[in-house]
This record gives sequence, structure tokens and C-alpha cells, in this order.
Amino acid sequence: MDNKDKPIGFFDSGVGGLSVMKEAISIMPNENFVYFGDSKNAPYGTKELEEVKKLTLNAVDFLLDKNVKAIVIACNTATSAAIEDIRDKYSSIIPIIGIEPALKPAVKLNRKGNVIIMATPMTLKEKKFKALMEKYRNEADIISLPCAGLVEFIEQGVLEGEELETYLKQKFKEYLANDINSVVLGCTHYPFVKNALSNVVGSDIPLIDGGEGTAKELKRKLKEKDLVNDSKEKGKIVIYNSLNDNKIIDFCYNLINL
Ligand code: DGL
Repeated sequence: MDNKDKPIGFFDSGVGGLSVMKEAISIMPNENFVYFGDSKNAPYGTKELEEVKKLTLNAVDFLLDKNVKAIVIACNTATSAAIEDIRDKYSSIIPIIGIEPALKPAVKLNRKGNVIIMATPMTLKEKKFKALMEKYRNEADIISLPCAGLVEFIEQGVLEGEELETYLKQKFKEYLANDINSVVLGCTHYPFVKNALSNVVGSDIPLIDGGEGTAKELKRKLKEKDLVNDSKEKGKIVIYNSLNDNKIIDFCYNLINL
């Protein structure tokens, strides 16, 4: 098989990375995609670092077995835990793209008020995020908001409703009285609950995620390595999940079409 025809591999701790793959499909519809979600082990964000590294490396091996031409770690938590190890091991063989909270576009909005970054506890604790904060700390008032428990709603298919909004209200209660510049969705699961979030913080508050930026970075990398698929036909999408259950696979296809 020509390298260009090989699929692009996407990985996340569960269904969240589909929010990134969706963006990639929309700008590169002729590419083939393979997605692996590790819902059996989700959430990653409250686990030990070593465990997340191990799970992520296993997932990369799974995708390499599927003969992919590039890998996107479409999970902020797995990126912060394991991207250095993965690059050390594999970047001479294959392009590896990670994701981090889209703090830059939020800061550049230059709106009044706090930039609130929602992410998993691990993402906010790791050195990758600390370095990002350091870069922008003088440009805006930035608040880290760890959201343990939110990934579980989305994994269970709860994307709206009272219970979810009560959870979000509780998280944001200290900040709603002040101006909010924007909310950064620093976990790839969160774009799927944008509507519920807007109901809580207000529909005028920008919600910013890194999906589009990551998809563009992937496209740039494929061009640079001469790996862009030149087929004129719509590509194929295959989804795997460690739960090995049709219900979760159907849910994943629904999320892509949302
Ligand atoms: N989608 C993952 C992320 O971007 C969720 C991590 C988790 O499973 O806790 O961080």
C-alpha cells in the first residue's frame, strides 16, 4: 500500500478525541481514519502518571498495528503524561501530534475578565501545562479549573440535562459573578457539552477548544512529510474501543455526526 493511502490514527482515553477527529475529517475528507478510544480505562485524568503513560504507549502500539501513517494523541491528559516518551520512541518512524489547552487564542481575544481553563486534574498538574501558563501569565488573568467527574458524564452519553448543568454550576459558582473573558476546553471530551456549558456561563462567552488547531497542525505535518492522500474519494473511518461493545461504537459514530 502507498504510504499516502494509509489511515491516520487517533487516540483518546475514550470518546473525547472524536471532537478532534471531526475537525480533521472536515478539512481532510479524503483521508482514511482509524480511531481508538480506551473507554474501558477512562477516565485517565485522575489516574497515576505511570499508568497513563503505559496505557498511552499501548494505544500507540495498537494504532501502529493498524498500519497508520501518523498518530494524533487527541487527549490533553495523555499528551501531558506521555508525549515526550512517545516522541523519543516513535517520532523517527512516524509523525506524532499531541494536543494542549488552546490558551493562546483565548488570551489573544483580549476580552475583559478571567480566562478559565477547564481540564482534568492531571493535565493541570503536569509540567507541560505549567510551561504554557508561564508563557501567558502576564497577558491575562488565568484560572485553572480541574473538572474531575466531567469526562464520566460524556462517556455515559450524558451531553445535556439538569444533572450535568448542576455539576457545571457548582464548578463555576465562584467565577460567575465576575467577567469571564473565555472558557478554554482543555480536555477533548468537553466540546461535546458546549451547549450545557453555554447555558451555565452565558451564550456570549467564547468557548475555545484545540480541535481545529490540532487538525491544521496534522495537515501541515502530512504535507511536510509528503503523506497527504491524493484520492478524490471520501475516506474510510474505522472506530475501535477497548470496551468492545457495539453500544459504544454506535455512540462514537453518532458523535462524529453531531
Ligand atoms: N479527553 C481526555 C483529555 O483530553 C480526557 C482524559 C480523561 O480520560 O480523564 O484530557
